[in-house]
Amino acid sequence: MKVMIINGPNLNLLGKREPDVYGSQSFEDYLEHLKDRFKDVEIHYVQSNVEGELVNALHNADDDSYDNIILNAGAYTHTSIAIGDAVAGISAPVIEVHISNVMDREEFRHVSYISKHAAGVISGFGLKGYELAMITLNI
Ligand code: DQA
Repeated sequence: MKVMIINGPNLNLLGKREPDVYGSQSFEDYLEHLKDRFKDVEIHYVQSNVEGELVNALHNADDDSYDNIILNAGAYTHTSIAIGDAVAGISAPVIEVHISNVMDREEFRHVSYISKHAAGVISGFGLKGYELAMITLNI
């Protein structure tokens, strides 16, 4: 089984960025833990701060026959029709993850252009949300 994790803007700053909201662990460190926990899964990871690159990453993961995509589009979640359209247009199921509980934050974060097209949404469980997404895949 192959899973692609796609992280959007500013998520490269995890560990340094607003640690009270996003925690103090870098994603690279967390990824090692994830790979260790799910040894039988091929886990790949891309991060971009650029909207179009996230669209391309979704298309590429679909073209490369990934079984599932875990997507945290960061702030583009709340603004990007293009990323929402990409999720709607590909056949690989996408799980939307947010580290923070977006519903308990500013109102502009209550809107997602992705959720409608996602297999499901996990929000508010910190980095553990990525693990929860993996568990939903019956791994
Ligand atoms: C986020 C929530 C978004 O609102 C925010 O812009 C992010 C991170 C999260 O993981 O909690 O960059 O997607």
